Amino acid sequence: MARRKKVYEGKAKILYEGPEPGTLIQYYKDDGRAGATPPQAAVEGKGVLNNRLSEFFMSGLNSIGVPTHFIRRLNMREQLVRMAEIVPLEVVVRNFAAGELSTRLGIPEGTALPRPIVEYYFKDEKLGDPMVAEEHIIAFGWASQQDLDDIVALALRVNDFLSGVMMGIGIRLADFRLEVGRIWEGDFMRLIVADEISPDSCRLWDTRGTEAPDREGVTREPGPLADVYTELARRLGVLPSNVTHTTKPTLIN
Ligand code: C5P
Repeated sequence: MARRKKVYEGKAKILYEGPEPGTLIQYYKDDGRAGATPPQAAVEGKGVLNNRLSEFFMSGLNSIGVPTHFIRRLNMREQLVRMAEIVPLEVVVRNFAAGELSTRLGIPEGTALPRPIVEYYFKDEKLGDPMVAEEHIIAFGWASQQDLDDIVALALRVNDFLSGVMMGIGIRLADFRLEVGRIWEGDFMRLIVADEISPDSCRLWDTRGTEAPDREGVTREPGPLADVYTELARRLGVLPSNVTHTTKPTLIN
């Protein structure tokens, strides 16, 4: 039997060569995401749920005309995606003050921002993904001014979609992080949403209870609402019937 080729392995995902040129298979592990502070422990079944959740959000975006790399889910832990050239930026959209923004600017966590704020961080784990300005991005050639205009438009459309979906299930989208990739169609380049959209890249607050189903809560205070992966999948109706964090998921390939 031929062994498939691993293209990349990160903390939470593995990319394998896809079945056709220009495709990849994205495999979701249970390990915590890279760069999480405090370091995020592995959560059993997380990869299965993030595969479902990312499928839900990405296919929703595709269906409203926001291009993403998602093609289809293959099995419990894998999805087929388009190969894209990743722009070396983490694009963060914030609706409410929290995390880095609250620390840096002293704005109390939970404060509604006057408008969504888009920030850029240079993807370099060794440097701790430092925040960068448009000036750096353009001067160092990571993206052009036109790319940045397109990235902001893309990020704000994703924000509208995600915020709306979350609001409908009693969850506030405080902020999230996007990765953007380039794909070429003939001579034309398009920017698309890449990587994943899941609780690993979103800060989510429950509006139905007092406790926030925050990703950080998974490691700090396990409780009924702390399990953001299961709770989000349950509220969205995409919880695979045989998956919880207490029973080991069964791989189907
Ligand atoms: O830590 P900070 O407040 O900058 O995080 C903003 C958003 O970006 C959070 O939703 C967090 O989950 C996400 N993020 C991420 N990956 C990183 C850094 C932040 O998904 N490496």
